[in-house]
Amino acid sequence: MKKIIVSIDGPAGSGKQRIAKYIAKKYKFYHLDSGVLYRRITLLVIKKRVDLKNLKKIKEVINNIEYLSPRNHRILRTEVVSKNASIISKILFVRKFVNNQQKLIVARKLKRYRGCVIDGRDIGSKVFTNAKYKLFIDVKAKIRANRRHKQLIELGEKSIYGKILKEIILRDKADINRKESPLIIPRNSIIIDNSSSFKNTTNQINKVLRKI
Ligand code: CDP
Repeated sequence: MKKIIVSIDGPAGSGKQRIAKYIAKKYKFYHLDSGVLYRRITLLVIKKRVDLKNLKKIKEVINNIEYLSPRNHRILRTEVVSKNASIISKILFVRKFVNNQQKLIVARKLKRYRGCVIDGRDIGSKVFTNAKYKLFIDVKAKIRANRRHKQLIELGEKSIYGKILKEIILRDKADINRKESPLIIPRNSIIIDNSSSFKNTTNQINKVLRKI
């Protein structure tokens, strides 16, 4: 049986994670959230009190990683990790390391699963360019900020909507304008509008994936 890869790219807070989880559950695929890998490295760097400008020290942190877990954890979703992850993910050697990890994880998981759904910023354009289905999730910044704001409040964190919006716009800019693997709409990808209800989104997705 042919193994299937579905890539999901899109800006911060566009709901890639929820969509990927939905696909994984419905089609019995393994879900890899590539952002978690960047967030894990970021958390390690923060814990070791390494200055984000100190590339040598960041490299040392990476060289000492024996196993980078793809598991999510609520500590990885805090604003301080989010903010610093978008800085750390600009570094070429960090990206190379994470891309390599993703390929290893997916190769391993495809032995057990019929497919993998991977979400991130450069999955369809750079990491899994041969993905059978490439989805790009589109949602306006204001709607994303509103959702993120609510999420943080639920997590018990302090949140100010205006500040969140500003940070989302800044993160978009950092992702779009960075030299290494900027956020782009991959060639041959299908744009999914995730601005309205989730039902509407899953309808669009199931239309695309109906042949799986
Ligand atoms: O929730 P959000 O989309 O902001 O974050 P995420 O997908 O967990 O990614 C965390 C950070 O890692 C983002 O700021 C991205 O810049 C970066 N990232 C990346 O550069 N490439 C990926 N494939 C995934 C995440």
